[in-house]
Amino acid sequence: MCGIVAYVGHRQAYPVILKGLKRLEYRGYDSAGIALLSDGLKLFKKKGKVAGLEDSLVGENVQGHIGIGHTRWATHGEPSDRNAHPHRSASGKLAMIHNGIIENYGQLKQELLNKGYSFTSDTDTEVLLHFIDDIRENNKCSLEEAIRIALKRVVGAYVIVIVDTESPDTLIAARKGSPLVIGIGKGEHFLASDASPIIEYTKEVVYVNDYELAIIRPDELILKNLGNETLTPFVQKLDLELAAIEKGGYEHFMLKEIFEQPHTIYDCLRGRLELSESKIIMSGVEQHLEQLKNAKRIIMVACGTSWHAGLVAEYIFEELCRVPVEVEYASEFRYRNPIVGPGDVIIAISQSGETADTLVAIEKAKEQGALIFGVLNVVGSSIARISHGGAYTHAGPEIGVASTKAFTAQLAVLTMIALKLGREKGTIDNDRYQRLLTELSLIPEKVQTVLEQAENINSLARKYAQATDFLFLGRGYNFPVALEGALKLKEISYIHAEGYPAAEMKHGPIALVDDTLPVVFVATKDPYHEKIVSNIQEIKARKGKVIAVISEGDETIPQMADDVMYVPACDEILAPMLNVIPLQLLSYYTGVHKGLDVDKPRNLAKSVTVE
Ligand code: F6R
Repeated sequence: MCGIVAYVGHRQAYPVILKGLKRLEYRGYDSAGIALLSDGLKLFKKKGKVAGLEDSLVGENVQGHIGIGHTRWATHGEPSDRNAHPHRSASGKLAMIHNGIIENYGQLKQELLNKGYSFTSDTDTEVLLHFIDDIRENNKCSLEEAIRIALKRVVGAYVIVIVDTESPDTLIAARKGSPLVIGIGKGEHFLASDASPIIEYTKEVVYVNDYELAIIRPDELILKNLGNETLTPFVQKLDLELAAIEKGGYEHFMLKEIFEQPHTIYDCLRGRLELSESKIIMSGVEQHLEQLKNAKRIIMVACGTSWHAGLVAEYIFEELCRVPVEVEYASEFRYRNPIVGPGDVIIAISQSGETADTLVAIEKAKEQGALIFGVLNVVGSSIARISHGGAYTHAGPEIGVASTKAFTAQLAVLTMIALKLGREKGTIDNDRYQRLLTELSLIPEKVQTVLEQAENINSLARKYAQATDFLFLGRGYNFPVALEGALKLKEISYIHAEGYPAAEMKHGPIALVDDTLPVVFVATKDPYHEKIVSNIQEIKARKGKVIAVISEGDETIPQMADDVMYVPACDEILAPMLNVIPLQLLSYYTGVHKGLDVDKPRNLAKSVTVE
C-alpha cells in the first residue's frame, strides 16, 4: 500500500502535493518523493516520513504548476532514497509514481536488461517505467499509446501517474486494482489514492475504474479504456468532511483496519493463489523448497498476536504437511538453550519485523544452522534482513496498536505455505487441496459478511462492557482464536480475560463461573462441535453468560446461548480467519463504550523493540 498525489493547474504544485502526502501517510511511510516539472524535471526523494522530505527541501527551488508525489510502503526493494518514488525513465523525459505490485516485473526486467537497460533501484516500478519508455522510443508513438501497449503486458495491480517533459501540462494516469480519485477544480485537477488530499480544494470527483486511462490537463479530463475508446467521466459529489477522512472515514484506525480485512486478505492472496491452475505461487517458498519440504521439524517463533497465528499454523501444518511443529514464545525460546540445528525450519511471524525477542531468537537459531523463514508485514524490516527467505503478508501499514488485519493476513500466508508444501510432499489429497484452494479464495467475501454484523456486535459489547472478567473458550483451530479474543479484549478494554481450550476449563477456570461471568465460545461447526455444545451446557448449568461465535445455520447453540454472533460456514482450517473478526469487533466496541483510546491503549507500543 502506498499513497499517491498529483496536481496540475494554476497553483504551485509542491504545497498541494506535500500536504496530500501527509494525509496519505497512513498508507506507508518508508520513503517519500516528489517530481516537479517547470525548468526541466526535478526529482526529490527521501527515505522515511514526509516530514523528512519536507525538511530536506528547505531552500530548494520547488516551483512548478505540475507535479507528482508518493509516500511509500515498500514491497520490492528495501526502504531507501534510491527505491523511493518517483522514478525517472532512461530517456530522462518521464517521471512516474506507482501504487501496487507488478507481478511479472522479473520477466519484463530481463527483457530490458537484454536490451541494455540498467536500473538505479530494486523496484518493480522502475521496470514498468523503462518498459513504457522503451515502447515509446522504439515505436515512435505517443506516451498514451505506449502506456496502453505496456499495460496490456502487465500482470498485477497498479495505479501509475506519469509526467512527461514533452507535454509539460499533462498528467497521464492509469489504474487496475489500486484506488485512484481525480478531483476536478476550476482550471486545475488533483489526483490521489483517496479523497483526503483533494477534499479541501473541491468536492467534485471522478473515481477511476480498473483498466481506465486518464489524460489530465488544467482544463481538461479525458478518460479512456485500454482499447482507446473515450469514456464519459462519472462526476460525483464528495459527501465527506475533511476531519472524517483522515482515518478513511473511521473513528479509529483499529476499526478501519478491522474493516480493511476483506481487502488485505485479498491482497495477500492476489498473484499467489492461482485457482485456474490449481497452484500456489510463492517465490519465497520456491527458493527454499527442498529445505522446507524436508524439514525434520518446524518451529514457529513469535510474540503476542503473531504467536497466536503460529498456534493456528501448528494445527494446519501438522494436518496438511504431516511435519512436527512447535510454537515458541520468542522470549522463552531465546533464553532456554533450545535444541535446534540443521534440518530445522524456523518460521518467524511478526507484523513489524522489529520485535526484539523474535529478532534475537532467530539470530540464535540461525547461528545453530536452522533455516529462517519470515512471515512478516513490514518489508525490509530487521527480521526480514536476517531471514534466509520468507513471504510478506502485504496487509499494508497497521497503525492501530492492537493487531487485527496483520493477524488474518498471517493466517492467509501460513495457510498458503502449508497448502503448497502439503501438495509438494503429497501429504494432502487432491480433493481436499482443490476444495481448500477454492474456499480460501472466498474468504475475503465471507469476512465482508461478518463485518456486516458490526452493529449487532456493538449492541452486544454495550451489554457486557461493565463485566470485570471474561473467559474465551474454543477447541481445535478455534482454541488459538479464543486466546486471541481474550488478548484483544484485555488490550483494548482493560477487562481481565483468559483464553482456554474449552475442555481444559473443567480443570480450573470453571471455578470462576457465576451469573456475572461472560464466557465467549468460539463454537463454529467442526468435528468437535458436539463436544463444545456440551461445554456450553456445563457453563449454562452454572449460570454463566454464554456469548457464542457460531456458524450460520446452527440451530442448536442459539437455544442455549445468551447471545450469538454468526459467521459463514467454511472448512475448519480456514475458520480462524472468519471467527476472529467478531472478537476483534467485540473488543473494539467494548473499548469505545468504556471511553478508552482504542488506537493507543495504555502501556502498549506498536512495535516492541526492547527485551
Ligand atoms: C497484540 C499485538 C502484540 C503483537 C506483538 C508482536 O494486538 O499487537 O501482541 O502481536 O507485540 O508484534 P509483531 O507481530 O510486530 O512481532
